[in-house]
Amino acid sequence: MSKKIAVIVGSLRRESINRKLASALAELGSGFASFAILPLGDVPMFNQDLEDDVPAPVLRLRESVRAADALLFLTPEYNRGIPAVLKNAVDWCSRPTGKGVLAGKPAALGGMSPGAVGTAVAQSQLKPVLLMLGVRLMGQPELYIQGGAGYFDAGGKVADERNRQFLVNFLKRFEDWIG
Ligand SMILES: Cc1cc2nc3c(=O)[nH]c(=O)nc-3n(C[C@H](O)[C@H](O)[C@H](O)COP(=O)(O)O)c2cc1C
Repeated sequence: MSKKIAVIVGSLRRESINRKLASALAELGSGFASFAILPLGDVPMFNQDLEDDVPAPVLRLRESVRAADALLFLTPEYNRGIPAVLKNAVDWCSRPTGKGVLAGKPAALGGMSPGAVGTAVAQSQLKPVLLMLGVRLMGQPELYIQGGAGYFDAGGKVADERNRQFLVNFLKRFEDWIG
């Protein structure tokens, strides 16, 4: 049966290479799962005062995560750290304590950056956060991609065959991980 994967992208940029990566993975993985990139642009900054009357975009985000069989986090690196939009989404989904929607979810993590570290620093910060919240995070293969817009062709497909194969292998392992 086809799995439902919720994709959380740590960039709101229209031309985000991480969103392009999400779309490319969605296409390459369409044989085993449907991928939905969750909208984060309207999710307000976390504020405990809002928890009495949780804003609708947060309720939608939580419901999408709750309903998913697995999660895929794809993120840029900002100043050697986790982009605020992604950390904000994780913080909202972690609440209320003990009743968050992240615990127990199988998940994988990856990211793409034009810089040489390929988001490794941001990912190494996000990993302990997700593990602490009980996310069942796949350890390997790691997905640290150094690339820019040229990684994709004009139609948004991965331009180079070796890169495409690398993503296909990543998805196979993720499929096994989800079980
Ligand atoms: C505020 C800011 C900080 C950044 N810091 C880093 C960084 O620490 N490491 C890195 O590899 N790239 C860094 N970059 C460059 C991003 O990798 C690049 O803008 C990338 O395209 C962002 O991902 P996106 O296209 O998915 O939005 C930074 C970009 C911004 C806007």
